[in-house]
Amino acid sequence: MEEKNHVKEAFTELAPSYSNTMDKELIQFWGISYPKFVESLVNTAAVKSGEKVLDIATGTAVIPLKLISCNNHQDRVVGLDITPAMLMQGRKVIARNGVTDTIDLICASAMDMPFANGIFDVIICGLGTHHMNVPKMLLEAKRLLANNGRLIISDVGATPFWRSLMGKMLLRLLMVQYGFVNRSARSQAEIEAFQNVRTAQEWSALLEGFGFVKVHIDEIKPRLPWFPSGLTLQAEIAI
Ligand SMILES: C[S@@+](CC[C@H](N)C(=O)[O-])C[C@H]1O[C@@H](n2cnc3c(N)ncnc32)[C@H](O)[C@@H]1O
Repeated sequence: MEEKNHVKEAFTELAPSYSNTMDKELIQFWGISYPKFVESLVNTAAVKSGEKVLDIATGTAVIPLKLISCNNHQDRVVGLDITPAMLMQGRKVIARNGVTDTIDLICASAMDMPFANGIFDVIICGLGTHHMNVPKMLLEAKRLLANNGRLIISDVGATPFWRSLMGKMLLRLLMVQYGFVNRSARSQAEIEAFQNVRTAQEWSALLEGFGFVKVHIDEIKPRLPWFPSGLTLQAEIAI
């Protein structure tokens, strides 16, 4: 999947109400609030003092902010995102929290990141991969990670039901109906992203194919079979 204008348009529209919208959607899909989701992702990343962190698709910088507040992480955290409006929102919150010296926000694509090789110990990506060309993003993540660097991704995933004949037919119908009723850039972006959602097994094979090791995947069960599940992936790179 290449970058589509729908993604930037969608998140430009969504930026002012981003956290509230996520909260409603995550409660609807998984029965957990957005703050709980972020807390759990940051706990999984278990960043240690001195580690250099990149948060891909950082959006309004909620993950970097949580990282520095809950881990007492004093080192700089870099957040990267393709949508300027999301970053602008993030910059306001960072300034309000007085942590402009700790978080750097960069506007760029995850498929072509403006950093030197091997400079990050931890790369995090929350709720972003389904909008990306994932193989290109993984190549970039691999290039940027130091030896034994860790990749932690948490995003929507497909359930085995999505791969059954009945699941495929039902989801196609639901997507057509969703696209018909909702004509916003957000719904277009989500419909495009639908093709890009993977099961835990598909993720595992992909990560291993790119040379990641110690792949571990936890699943957040969806509230209904046709909703996406939540997948939290952890992997390491050994150079
Ligand atoms: C659902 S938000 C996730 C924001 C944040 N990580 C969080 O957990 O709240 C998805 C973000 O991915 C960003 N995004 C989509 N495609 C991207 C790409 N190719 N490169 C960088 N960011 C991208 C969007 O701009 C948006 O801010």
